Amino acid sequence: MKRVHIAGVGKTAFGVLSGRGLRELAGEAMEAAIGAAGRDRREIEAVYVGNFDAPSFTGQNHLGPLVAGAAGLEGVPATRFEAACASGGSALFHAVQAVRAGLYRNVLVCGVEKMTGQTTARVAEILAGAGDADSEARLGATFPAIFALIARRHMHQYGTTREQLAAVAVKNHWNASMNPQAHLRKVISIEQALAGKPVADPLTLYDCSPVSDGAAAVWVTSEPGEVEVVACAQASGALALADKREITTFEATRRAARRAYEEAGMEPGEIQLAEVHDCFTIAELIAMEDLGFIEAGESGAWVESGATGIDGSLPVNTSGGLKAKGHPIGATGVGQICDLVQQLRGQAGERQVARRDVGLTQNLGGSGATSVVTILRRTV
Ligand code: COA
Repeated sequence: MKRVHIAGVGKTAFGVLSGRGLRELAGEAMEAAIGAAGRDRREIEAVYVGNFDAPSFTGQNHLGPLVAGAAGLEGVPATRFEAACASGGSALFHAVQAVRAGLYRNVLVCGVEKMTGQTTARVAEILAGAGDADSEARLGATFPAIFALIARRHMHQYGTTREQLAAVAVKNHWNASMNPQAHLRKVISIEQALAGKPVADPLTLYDCSPVSDGAAAVWVTSEPGEVEVVACAQASGALALADKREITTFEATRRAARRAYEEAGMEPGEIQLAEVHDCFTIAELIAMEDLGFIEAGESGAWVESGATGIDGSLPVNTSGGLKAKGHPIGATGVGQICDLVQQLRGQAGERQVARRDVGLTQNLGGSGATSVVTILRRTV
């Protein structure tokens, strides 16, 4: 097996990016990654695209060649990967496997989604396609509703409070306020978060990630580099909420995390910072527990204590997370890698964490049916 490194990363800002289509966004992110790598684009042997549903959002299918063409990479194999909100993470996972196996030396991964051309109601309908059509989507269970059920159950089972959910939102909005590429850069208080307009009880506006456009790209290589991919694992779990043994934990994340720690030869306690999938505030709490950072049921108090703040013992979502940085579905998992690489290289400005040797990303699809966990280590 080859060792895998990251040669360069690049992303667009996330947000309402009117006037720029999917092709332009993908092109901008890939140009930034190629520029950061400082290498000849002709070395790239394949393009892996993470995208959830461009056909429904923009009417565009067959994204592989479209995205490759946007970076002048016509000719190479170019393929789209779809795994709901983990589409970007899944494209990365497959690129890492291909480079590890020696199939390619250089793969460019690009995650992209253009969502804001649709109404919020239509976006909710499209996103519901990532759930179980028979038992959820057709009955009107949108993702805010599904995560509201999960939040309710976590509150019932462990005594997690509305204030603890709000603490996640306040932290991530604060972090995003210092991130020039974030969608929502507004600092909010606990009171504001609690008083947000109701979306799906107990979740308010501030418990939800926004609807965003954006793209991100990562050049994966077998050449030595400043940041090594020491683990990248993808796992699956039940698609429908009704088919899960428990809804306060995501089996896919636990499985992917177990494999990732094994690949890296590390324990959760060795991770110094993390970018996790907080599509809703409750998802960040569950991620903390599923990744083994804290015991089940204790994440709410942990976040409230400040442990996951930039100056805490384990900074989480220093980018602002999906909650405030934005969540252009297919771009999210690749964007998390860009954000982590920025921290490991010491380039995160005001948001820079002190310990920056090893970090983790977790990218979740649907209500936990796909999860991708990646561990990166700084080599210099
Ligand atoms: N958090 C904080 N503020 C938000 C926000 C969010 N998630 N979404 C929108 N806003 C802000 C907007 O910036 C805007 O602010 P302004 O008035 O100062 O300009 C205001 O709220 C209204 O925005 P609008 O786009 O009209 O909101 P909306 O009511 O149409 O949509 C949600 C709000 C929460 C319903 C929508 O963002 C949503 O559906 N989010 C979940 C997306 C999702 O399910 N993703 C997949 C997860 S698995």
